[in-house]
Amino acid sequence: MLPGLAVIIVGEDPASKVYVGRKEAMCQELGMHSEKFALPEETTQEELVALVEKLNCDDKVHGILVQLPLPKHLDEKAVINTIRPEKDVDAFHPVNVGKIMIGDYDFVPCTPAGIMELIAESKVEVEGKTCVVIGRSNIVGKPMSMLLLHKNGTVTTCHSRTKNIKEITKTADILVAAVGRANFVTADMVKPGAVVIDVGMNRLEDGRLVGDVAFDEVERIAGAITPVPGGVGPMTIAMLMQNTFTAAKNTLNF
Ligand code: GUN
Repeated sequence: MLPGLAVIIVGEDPASKVYVGRKEAMCQELGMHSEKFALPEETTQEELVALVEKLNCDDKVHGILVQLPLPKHLDEKAVINTIRPEKDVDAFHPVNVGKIMIGDYDFVPCTPAGIMELIAESKVEVEGKTCVVIGRSNIVGKPMSMLLLHKNGTVTTCHSRTKNIKEITKTADILVAAVGRANFVTADMVKPGAVVIDVGMNRLEDGRLVGDVAFDEVERIAGAITPVPGGVGPMTIAMLMQNTFTAAKNTLNF
């Protein structure tokens, strides 16, 4: 049996289309079973929920991913809650979120999982380090902080209401930027030698894709830094494949 991933995309968001295309292409490259459901913008809540329920019962499908954001008229939370936790390869379902909190999990959201893999592969020790995460989204910031905490980092989460953010980021041995603002992290916010991880994907008016970190100036003082594109992004896809494999393995019980 092949591990199988179903990806659902609703509407015409150009960035989402690119991400979904990459996920599908990687499934094919690895020889996995993949199904894509590209639904029109006017899809109703009932239709979307019915599709997820059908995939919940489909034995060929081990992982279900609903690409976010959904169009405004759809209830994202209700859709995510419909996915069977065993097939929730994004780890967005409350059961999986709770498992991450207590450190007992099968799936980790793909972006934070990819970052932890980059950190481990680069032989960066987290234990005892000062870690600062900028951003508190459910997809990246919160699970990222939790994973660093599980590795015995001392973690601070900064966000849009944080005061004196520079004073905090300057203490970081490991700095993760998941803000969604181009060039938000400048060199004066970074401790020399810090490991800087850039989760941002910001499209400039001239069409260029840049991260949340002002790469050229921060690269000069960072100990290590991830580029955009080509840093965290490909790891996110790799982790989705790993979560799908885990989901398939768990259904086979081997
Ligand atoms: N939109 C942006 N990142 C993600 C992701 O990791 N999963 C899903 N489903 N949607 C996203």
